[in-house]
Amino acid sequence: TEASPTEFSPTDAFAFRVDATDGPARTGAITMPRGVIRTPAFMPVGTAATVKAMYPDQVRALGADVVLGNTYHLMLRPGPERMARLGGLHRFMGWEGPILTDSGGFQVMSLASLRKLDEKGVTFRSHVDGSAHHMSPERSIEIQGLLGSDIQMQLDECVRLPAEPAEVERAMRLSLRWAERCRVAFGTQPGKAMFGIVQGGDVPALRVESAQALVALDLKGYAIGGLAVGEPQAVMLAMIETVEPHLPRAKPRYLMGVGTPDDLMRSVARGVDMFDCVMPTRAGRHGLAYTRHGRINLRNARHAEDTRPLDETSSCPAARDYSRAYLHHLVRSDEILGMMLLTWNNLAYYQDLMAGMRRAIAGGRLADFSGETREAWARAEA
Ligand code: GUN
Repeated sequence: TEASPTEFSPTDAFAFRVDATDGPARTGAITMPRGVIRTPAFMPVGTAATVKAMYPDQVRALGADVVLGNTYHLMLRPGPERMARLGGLHRFMGWEGPILTDSGGFQVMSLASLRKLDEKGVTFRSHVDGSAHHMSPERSIEIQGLLGSDIQMQLDECVRLPAEPAEVERAMRLSLRWAERCRVAFGTQPGKAMFGIVQGGDVPALRVESAQALVALDLKGYAIGGLAVGEPQAVMLAMIETVEPHLPRAKPRYLMGVGTPDDLMRSVARGVDMFDCVMPTRAGRHGLAYTRHGRINLRNARHAEDTRPLDETSSCPAARDYSRAYLHHLVRSDEILGMMLLTWNNLAYYQDLMAGMRRAIAGGRLADFSGETREAWARAEA
C-alpha cells in the first residue's frame, strides 16, 4: 500500500527538550512522530473534529503545531469505533500534526445530563440524543486510542470552585486512582504519551500531594487541571506557583482550559508549556476580536463607520484587509464570514503571542515582552 503523509514509524519516540529558560519560563519543543510542538504552545480547540469556522490548512498556517480533540463529543458522534474504521481522527478531519485529546470527564460534567460518578467511572446521558453511556478510566484510554490521539489525558474529576476542601480532596484522590488505572490501560506506546492531571482545587497541600503522587507514576507529561473554574486569577497563579516546583523540569506542563492572553503570559512566566482554550474561537463567533490593541467588541455601534482594519501590522489577512465597519456589519447580520474572519484573527493573535513569548524567553526578556504587550492594551483602553 502507498504510504500516506500521516503514516509514521512506530519506533519514533516522544521527547521533550528545553532550549532556554527565563526564570521559571521555558521554551523548547516536544518532538513526536507526527511533528514538532514548539513550546510554550497554544492548542486550538477542535472539539467535534473541527476547529470551528477554520480550515485545517489555515490553522496550520497560523503556526499551530497541535490541536485538541474531545473524547466526550467524538464518542457520542461519530463514535470511536466508526472513527477507527474511517482511519482515525487525523485522516477524518484532515489534520496531519499531533492531536491531544481530553479524556471526557470534564465535558461530561459540563454537558451531559443524569451524571453519576463513582469509583468505576462516570455514567451519563448524551446531550445529543439522551442515550446512556458509561466511561471508565480504561474506556477513556481505549476511546482515545481508537481516535488515534497522540497525547492522551487521564480520566479525572474536576471540581468547580468555590468548593469544600473535603470535596476537593475526595475528587483529587479519585483522580489519582484513575491516573494509575489509565497508566496501566495505556501501557507503553512508542511516540505517544499519556499525561496525568494535577487536581486539588485551591488547597496548596492537596495540589502538592497530587503533583507528587503523579510524578511517582513517571508519566510523559503533567497537566494542571481544576483551574479557571470560578476562582480569581490570583488564586490560579498561586496554584501554578505551588505545583511548579514539584513537577519534573524535563517534562511538559499543560494548563488545561486557560485562558485570556494575560492568563497565558502570567502562566508562561510561571513555567507552563502548553495551553488550550475555547476563548479565541468562541469569542470569534460572538463578535469579539483579540488584537494588539486589546479586545474589541465588533457588535458595538461605535465601529459602524470605522474604516480602519483590526490591526494593520498583523500577520493575518483577517486583521489587515477588512474594515471594522465591515466586520461590524457581518457580526450584526449574523453572517458566517464574520465568524470565520474573527476566529481567524483571534487564533492568529494567540499564535503570534505564543511565538512572541518563545522568542522573548530565548532572549531572556519575557518580562519586557509581557510588559510591552500589556502597555499596548492599556494605551488602547485609555
Ligand atoms: N479542561 C479544563 N480543566 C480541566 C480539568 O481539570 N480536567 C480535564 N480533564 N479537562 C479540563
